[in-house]
Amino acid sequence: MIDIKLLNKSFGDKTVLSEISFDVLEGQSLAIVGQSGTGKSVLLKNMIGLMKPDSGEVWIDDELISGMSFRELQLVRTKIGMVFQSGALFDSLTVGQNIGLGLKKLTNLSIDERENRILESLADVNLQGTEDLMPSELSGGMKKRVGIARAIAIRPKYLFYDEPTTGLDPIMTDIINKLIIKLQKLYNITSVIITHEIRTIFEVAERVIMLNNGKVIYNGSSTKIKENEMPIIKSFFTGNSVVDLGADK
Ligand SMILES: Nc1ncnc2c1ncn2[C@@H]1O[C@H](COP(=O)(O)OP(=O)(O)OP(=O)(O)O)[C@@H](O)[C@H]1O
Ligand SMILES: [Mg+2]
Repeated sequence: MIDIKLLNKSFGDKTVLSEISFDVLEGQSLAIVGQSGTGKSVLLKNMIGLMKPDSGEVWIDDELISGMSFRELQLVRTKIGMVFQSGALFDSLTVGQNIGLGLKKLTNLSIDERENRILESLADVNLQGTEDLMPSELSGGMKKRVGIARAIAIRPKYLFYDEPTTGLDPIMTDIINKLIIKLQKLYNITSVIITHEIRTIFEVAERVIMLNNGKVIYNGSSTKIKENEMPIIKSFFTGNSVVDLGADK
C-alpha cells in the first residue's frame, strides 16, 4: 500500500502541491489526472523518491520513503517500476540492453536468467524479436512498449506510468490500455497512471485522483467522476476551458 500524507512541494515561491493526502491500495489501479502544469509529474516523482517533499510523508509498504537516503531508496526501488513520460530509452543501447540495465542493477539474476527475463518481458508487450534493434529503429508506440517491458522486467509490485499514451494514435492508445490491464492481472501489479486520456481513465483505472491548483479536488471511483457537477471536473471531460481568457472583451 502507498500512503501519502499532507504532502507539500514548492519551487521558490510557487506552491505546486499543497497538503496532498491519499492512498493506493494493493492491486488497485489509480489514475492521476489534471490540467497540464498542475503538478502530476512532480507528485509522481515525490511518490517514488526521485524528489523530496518540503513537508509531509510518503509511505510504501510501511516504509517512510520521503525521509530515506539514496542508498536506502535503492532497496525500495526494487519493487517500483517506472514508465517515464518521454520513454527515456538510451539511444546508444539496443532494446535488450536497455531492459537489461535495470535487471543488472536491481536484481540478483544470473546472466542467463537476465537474458530470459528480457525475452519474456518483450513477449509480454508483444515485441518478440526486437531485442537487437536500436531505439532509433522503433516507432513511438514500440518505444512506449519497450519502456513498459523495461519497467516490468524487474517484476515490480508497483508500476508508475507517466502519460503512457500521450502522442499515440487511438489504436496504439487502446493497445497500451489493454496492456496495462493485462500486466496488472498477470503480475498482480498496483498501478498508478498519470493520464490525459479519457479512455484510460474509464477503461483502466478503478480510482481517480484529480489535481487542481495543487490540491486534490476529486478522489473516488472512475465511473462516478463523470456524474460530478464541479465545473472544473466537467470541463476536463468536455474539453471546454473554464478559464476566462477575456476573449469577449
Ligand atoms: N525541478 C523543478 N524546478 C522548478 N519547477 C518545477 C520543477 N519541476 C516542475 N516544476 C514546476 O512545477 C509545476 C508542475 O509541473 P509538472 O511537470 O508536475 O506538471 P504536470 O501536471 O505533470 O504537467 P503535464 O501534464 O504538462 O505533464 C510546473 O509549473 C513546473 O514548471
Ligand atoms: Mg507531467
